[in-house]
Amino acid sequence: MSKLNVNGREHTVDADPGTPILWALRDTLGMTGTKFGCGAAQCGACTVHLDGQAIRSCVTPISAAEGRKITTIEAVTDGHDRVGAAVHAAWVKHDVAQCGYCQSGQIMSATAFLKSLPRGKQPSAAEIDSAMAGNICRCGTYARIRAAVADAARALA
Ligand code: FES
Ligand code: FES
Repeated sequence: MSKLNVNGREHTVDADPGTPILWALRDTLGMTGTKFGCGAAQCGACTVHLDGQAIRSCVTPISAAEGRKITTIEAVTDGHDRVGAAVHAAWVKHDVAQCGYCQSGQIMSATAFLKSLPRGKQPSAAEIDSAMAGNICRCGTYARIRAAVADAARALA
């Protein structure tokens, strides 16, 4: 049994401690907003926050999350997270998603990036690209992602 704090709620998960967080979220807790892409920390589809840091949940075991806080796309886009709400709104404004499969991971990385910046800082295109480099989009929405992150940063200033 492992105790996991997900989006502010405590859960007891009956799974091997080596189970990736991704599968505890999707299969045990039924939270399917976090996606499986490569399973090898290469694509970013499975990105969640662990104590505010963007991590790859496909390769991070639940044992690494005990006593820490996991945040998923379900909480970041529920309207209660100021930065997440700005990112979500910018994503809608720029019509970022195409097939959508990578997008929850993209939003999680963008939100962690903007939360890491000093209040009011406007990131350059190069800084945005660097922060988002670990998230692959097979539909090639990178230009819209860059524009949306910049827009969210302006909205948060
Ligand atoms: S599914 Fe985790 S990085 Fe690709
Ligand atoms: S929107 Fe299709 S993979 Fe990114």
